[in-house]
Amino acid sequence: MLENKHILLIVGGGIAAFKSLDLVRRLRERGAQVTPVLTKAGSEFVTPLSLAALSASKIYQDLFNLTDEAEMGHIELSRAADLIVVAPATADLMAKMAGGHANDLASTLLLATDNRVLIAPSMNVRMWTHPATQRNLATLQDDGVLVVGPNEGDMACGEYGPGRMAEVPEIIASIDASLTDGPLSGKHVLVTSGPTHESIDPVRYIANRSSGAQGTAIAKALAALGADVTFVTGPADIAPPMDMTVVQVQTAQDMLEAVQAARPADAAVFAAAVADWHVANAGDSKIKKDGAGLPQLEFAENPDILATVSQMTKDRPKLVVGFAAETDDLIANATAKRLRKQCDWIVANDVSPETGIMGGSENAVTLISDQGAESWPRMTKDAVAATLAARIAEALA
Ligand code: C5P
Repeated sequence: MLENKHILLIVGGGIAAFKSLDLVRRLRERGAQVTPVLTKAGSEFVTPLSLAALSASKIYQDLFNLTDEAEMGHIELSRAADLIVVAPATADLMAKMAGGHANDLASTLLLATDNRVLIAPSMNVRMWTHPATQRNLATLQDDGVLVVGPNEGDMACGEYGPGRMAEVPEIIASIDASLTDGPLSGKHVLVTSGPTHESIDPVRYIANRSSGAQGTAIAKALAALGADVTFVTGPADIAPPMDMTVVQVQTAQDMLEAVQAARPADAAVFAAAVADWHVANAGDSKIKKDGAGLPQLEFAENPDILATVSQMTKDRPKLVVGFAAETDDLIANATAKRLRKQCDWIVANDVSPETGIMGGSENAVTLISDQGAESWPRMTKDAVAATLAARIAEALA
């Protein structure tokens, strides 16, 4: 997919720079040509020699280098690529970019370019959450800079929180998406899919019959239009797609947390069949059949992920799409659900057994929006996905 694509990779000075070496390898495996630019701070973490060996390219480090300028000036270097990737993008590099500084080779290239730029921020959690960095992030996003990550997790400095650079497959998925010219290029879309498993004890769980087929098809159709898709899936029958960020979860609570961590998104499609309840008195050890009578399960309500995201006041996706699988009064129930949950669209389908839709390869849906109900002809789940993805692209245009 990256055959003949030329990527200028700016490696900033952070502990995550070691991941950039792997990024170079993976990009080259996919046919991309990588030209590395190493900042002074970056060279404290990785050596020019390792980058040169892995990229099979000359490494650019200095703004004032007569040999480089004679071969390829910095303006040309910044424009020859299809995409500029900054990984790791440190707080300092982000500040320079947001402020329009040009006092070293990396910042000068970033100011001189007319190309698309993707950054993978990486820094200490307090630096990331600092108002100055968040301000810079907002400025960069307004300027059209694409951002992947950071992720939440343990940090090299011993703290925990957001600030870890995105993993290499996630960066590659974002690179793919940003180089694919489609109506959803540069858009981040979140998709939930599959069933959830709610534990009864360590070996038993409550599940449902969702195969994950429709959600997977939607994620693929969105990616095919150029979207950067985050796919949050419960334990589904269908293998998750390869070319996107996949987060595998078990329970509704896990799914909500994964969705929250993946935001912000331009659109969100909630195709998962989320369990309505979890077992409040789930056992830590296996419940025994010991003659003491039947186990008494107590249920507690699960969070409604669709309603939670629809009703967010900050960073709500521009378009939130829910599903309604109904067996009776399809349109009336789905219309009421749209209003109750406050999502923008509901994709409603009749899952009565005689339709053969649950577990089948076809679907007959009605799209419910503030414009009313629009019934689509019965078609394959892939065709439903492609039609929905095209409508999402129109809505985000
Ligand atoms: O209320 P009901 O389960 O019928 O709503 C279905 C829609 O709500 C689907 O889009 C589903 O993904 C979403 N949902 C959710 N979290 C829940 C229950 C449903 O996101 N706990």
